[in-house]
Amino acid sequence: MKEITTFINPNVVSDAFPTEIFSSSLNSERGVFPNTHIKQKSFFDHPITVQQPSVSIESQSVDEILAENLYSNAELSANPDAFFVCDLGEVERQYNLFKRLLPRIQPFFAIKCNPDPMVIKTLLKLGTGFDCASKTEVQTVLEIGADPSSVIYANPCKQTSQIRYAASQEVHTMTFDNADELIKISLTNPKAKLVLRILADDSRSLMKFGVKFGASIDTVPILLRKAKELGVEVVGVSFHVGSGCFSAGAFSDAVILARKAFDIGAELGFEFSLLDVGGGFPGQNSGGITFEQIACALGPTVDALFPSHVKVIAEPGRFFVSSAYTLATSIVAKRVVAQSNSDDSFMYYINDGIYGSFNCIVFDHYKPSPKVLFRSGKYHYENQSFDAQSSNCSIWGPTCDSMDCITKSEDGLPEMNVGDWLYFNNMGAYTNAAASQFNGFIKSKVIYTNTE
Ligand SMILES: Cc1ncc(COP(=O)(O)O)c(C=O)c1O
Repeated sequence: MKEITTFINPNVVSDAFPTEIFSSSLNSERGVFPNTHIKQKSFFDHPITVQQPSVSIESQSVDEILAENLYSNAELSANPDAFFVCDLGEVERQYNLFKRLLPRIQPFFAIKCNPDPMVIKTLLKLGTGFDCASKTEVQTVLEIGADPSSVIYANPCKQTSQIRYAASQEVHTMTFDNADELIKISLTNPKAKLVLRILADDSRSLMKFGVKFGASIDTVPILLRKAKELGVEVVGVSFHVGSGCFSAGAFSDAVILARKAFDIGAELGFEFSLLDVGGGFPGQNSGGITFEQIACALGPTVDALFPSHVKVIAEPGRFFVSSAYTLATSIVAKRVVAQSNSDDSFMYYINDGIYGSFNCIVFDHYKPSPKVLFRSGKYHYENQSFDAQSSNCSIWGPTCDSMDCITKSEDGLPEMNVGDWLYFNNMGAYTNAAASQFNGFIKSKVIYTNTE
């Protein structure tokens, strides 16, 4: 037996992984270095810790919390930081809606959309599984208490060391969509239960994933033969119609395509038992399609094409969290733009922006709609009638970058002043998840309540 005494190549294996698993896979028949004994650990062998801060959960309405936080702040006009109010009760209501309209489908929350531990804990208690895209996401849900069997590692192109980490935690269900990934997985986790992600028509979605992921139906037989040759287990099929989907038909068409993939599998001797209908369910009913319409198309198509022994899961992200978060921001600066032949317009600078919670404008095609929360000493939540005319304005984030613009031309607001507050509904998806601290502006904190 040959002995490796050098450090492991960080490009191949990085981060923490259990040496035993790594060694046993290297020593396995399919291993890259059969008959090789690993003596040393990777110099990246350090654990990461997911922070789970202890936070309190209020029981007041979002309205009451917003009001309390504004009025209790004696320094209101000195511009305290922006903040979210998260209503975990809304997450629960969305879960109940999902289960009521799609009772056969088990949701696996796509935590990339909002990895807030409080949301994860809430959904865990309700009984969802989790869709994770990386080692850190897997670690996050496991540390919060998810069972490894309720996790799907739904990233078709994964880093070897991260597959190994997932395997060490008994997370074996994972997606693939190409032959190289199959080879990689076969060498890394012989216990993997693979789900073939097929290419669905994403032309009816705002965020199309097909340019990056998904095996076209023509390649399904090739990939399944390769899986057979490598001896890896393929248990089912997944798809993603794209995020911000505005067509219920996109879901039913994709289910029909998945049925074709199941049939191809059956012809090649596979007995698939899992269908994963992905994400893309709207978080609020403003995108031209409702969740109810999608459920009406999706549920019956699944039932018609898949016998009851096939387990059906979904990977909703925004659906659970979008409407649960409200962001309150204050106006920290104002500029009057004089117009020669019309009324003045205004530029308002607020204390969260594109580099913070509003990154959703860039990454998620989000169109935020500002509302007045506090103006000239008066609280306005859900009461948008004013004793002043509306004027044209633009709203900007706090950084020194001119790209940091939240809306260029907004004419529904009355004139506002420094120290007044705006709020934005439906700010729970793809907001704080990717917020940065660019220019030194901290991420907006979250105040939790549960109205259920
Ligand atoms: C594999 C996968 N599943 C689920 C989701 C969640 O999508 P949505 O938030 O639109 O439901 C995404 C989003 O990027 C994804 O990539």
